[in-house]
Formats: sequence, structure tokens, C-alpha cells
Amino acid sequence: LTRIAVFASGRGSNFRSLARAAAADDFPGRIELLLSDRKDAGALAIAAEFGIPSAVVEDGKPRGRLSPASEASLLAACREAGAEWICLAGFMRILGAGFLGAYPDRVVNIHPSLLPSFPGLDAQGQAFAHGVKVSGCTVHLVDAGVDTGPIVMQRAVGAEGARSADELAARILAVEHELYPAALRRLLEEPWERRGRRIVFTRNTEVGP
Ligand code: GRF
Repeated sequence: LTRIAVFASGRGSNFRSLARAAAADDFPGRIELLLSDRKDAGALAIAAEFGIPSAVVEDGKPRGRLSPASEASLLAACREAGAEWICLAGFMRILGAGFLGAYPDRVVNIHPSLLPSFPGLDAQGQAFAHGVKVSGCTVHLVDAGVDTGPIVMQRAVGAEGARSADELAARILAVEHELYPAALRRLLEEPWERRGRRIVFTRNTEVGP
């Protein structure tokens, strides 16, 4: 089984969906560790519920780039747990080249929009304010930018009739909870290649250049 570490800063509903999926006998990975940059993260209680070890690395800021020391602590914890893949699940921090270089194309994130539309904070609010009729969610590999890495899987969510950004966010969140475990499973058990910034699953019909 592939060893996975999850990073979460907040309530942790995506972490819960990953933990639930990973508890299935046929899931190709196992969550070894939950790491957070906030000691008030709801994700910590979820880790306890699932019997997943957790640790907090606080560096005094709510978001943005991590300090080199914090990043080194996170990396050390991942190595100690033998983590091979890292899943970001509402982790509000930007990982630097030091961390990403240790896990090339092995850090995944979920973002609540159809990237490349609406990267960054409050994607659902941005989409609602823009008046889009369709939004969705994206699982992507993490590169040095913010929500710019290669796309693994996406799902569309209708935005019509949503009366607020919160209502749109709730619609998207329900789909996130299905997409993230599905995309992780696919990355771990199907053959795929990275061609430039395209992730191509080579077992299905999505061949071509
Ligand atoms: C989700 O909308 C996720 O797409 C974004 O942050 C939010 C985290 O929610 N990256 P939760 O903590 O998983 O409930």
C-alpha cells in the first residue's frame, strides 16, 4: 500500500472523505499521518476518530508561504512516516521548492473551481460573483504556483439557481468529496504519464499526442 500524508488547515471534510475511502480493503493507499499548521483545525479530531497519527506545525501565520523551518519540520514528519504521496486538503499554505523537490509530482491538491478559472482564495465566491453558470472542482498536482499544477481530474457542478456563494460552495463540496478519493485512487492504481503539463491516464482511450 502506498503511504500517504494529508495536510489540512481547517474543518477537514475532504480529509474525512479520503480517510473513509482509504479505510476500504481495496484502496491502494493508506493514510499514515495528518499534519496541520493550526492547532484548532477540525481535521485533528477527525484524525483521532480514524486512528490516524497527527501533528501540528505552527509558524505563526494563517496563510501564505511557510517559513523554511516549518517546511523542514513538515518534511521531516513525512519522511519519518515513510510518506510517498502528500494530499493537501484545505491546507492554506504555499509549499516551497524545498518540500516540492522532495516529492516531485507526488503532492496533490483539491481546489473548488474548474481550474484555470478562479485560482486562489475563495474560489466559490469568485465564481459566484462572476456569475458563471457552471463551476466545479479540480484535483491537480502541486507545483510552485498557487493552483497552477497539472490537472488530474475535474468535475463540473451547475451554478444556476444558486442564491449565494455559500450555496454554490455546498454544491461543489459534495462533489469534492467524491472526486478527491476517486482521483487519488486513479493516480495510485492506474498507469499514467505526465506529458508537459498534461496528465494522461494511459489505460483508457485518452491517448493521443
Ligand atoms: C475545500 O473547498 C477545498 O477544495 C479547498 O479548501 C476547502 C477545504 O474544506 N482547498 P475542508 O477542510 O476539506 O472541509
